[in-house]
Amino acid sequence: MSRRRTLLKSVSKSKEFVFDKYEYYRRAVQAPDVDVRFIREAYRELRKRDPRSLREDFCGSFSICCEWVKLHKENEAFGVDLDDEPIAYGTTHYLPKLKADQRARIRISQENVLNPNLPRVDVVCAMNFSHYIFKDRSVMKSYFHNCHSTLNANGILLVDAFGGSQCQEANEEITDHKTFKYFWDQVSFDPISNHALFHIHFQPKGRRKIENVFSYDWRMWSIPEIREMMHESGFTKTHVYWEGTTKKGTGNGIFKRSEKGEDCQGWVAYVVGEKSP
Ligand SMILES: C[S@@+](CC[C@H](N)C(=O)[O-])C[C@H]1O[C@@H](n2cnc3c(N)ncnc32)[C@H](O)[C@@H]1O
Repeated sequence: MSRRRTLLKSVSKSKEFVFDKYEYYRRAVQAPDVDVRFIREAYRELRKRDPRSLREDFCGSFSICCEWVKLHKENEAFGVDLDDEPIAYGTTHYLPKLKADQRARIRISQENVLNPNLPRVDVVCAMNFSHYIFKDRSVMKSYFHNCHSTLNANGILLVDAFGGSQCQEANEEITDHKTFKYFWDQVSFDPISNHALFHIHFQPKGRRKIENVFSYDWRMWSIPEIREMMHESGFTKTHVYWEGTTKKGTGNGIFKRSEKGEDCQGWVAYVVGEKSP
């Protein structure tokens, strides 16, 4: 065998690098096992019983649905997203990891979260700030109203929110992971409209940076605005779950109900709307 052929053989044997954007996103951004426990705790705290049915709006690859059905044998999950690509990813990568009876308790539909007749549930959640895509008050209110009318009596709507002074200017936050760097890049912020543009980039170790893997064109809604819109859409009570602080002054990952926040450069919180019985 010539030297050239030996070389070619060894190259084809070496593992080809495949960039799986949803796998990088999962490792950098998502913690669905933690999310579902938090959702169950919030419902328990407010309703003194366990929720059984959950709808994950803007579900993408529906990782929360997959964790929800693992939590209890009677739990059911419904996912809703417009885009067939993340739904297909969840179907081929996450569903096969579940037991048959867990898979049977998940239903995903490719449609708009504004559509009426979405499945009725105990909990609707919208995570990773997906609802910030609705920039007009009237559209956000029709979304919240749709959530209210498709919740069971005693149901709750749980959404996350983020903000802080660092979200009001262009900046980039870089997080080092074992095998890659994660970039949360805020390209712009307009103080008149509160519109902001974000990109996610990844740089696998030893490779070039892969830019604009995910992009988000959002309005930065404040917590009081979200609460007001929930009330105007039929929710009788709203609550804010604010994150505790470590000795170093960073978030400790424990969110508790609070009516008093803390001024910080960057914060994440949850807002819950209660539907009356
Ligand atoms: C930020 S991603 C969040 C995905 C997932 N919730 C997560 O936490 O990783 C936003 C998702 O919302 C979907 N989306 C945007 N507008 C929508 C709408 N009106 N109805 C349903 N899905 C929508 C997009 O297709 C995208 O998958």
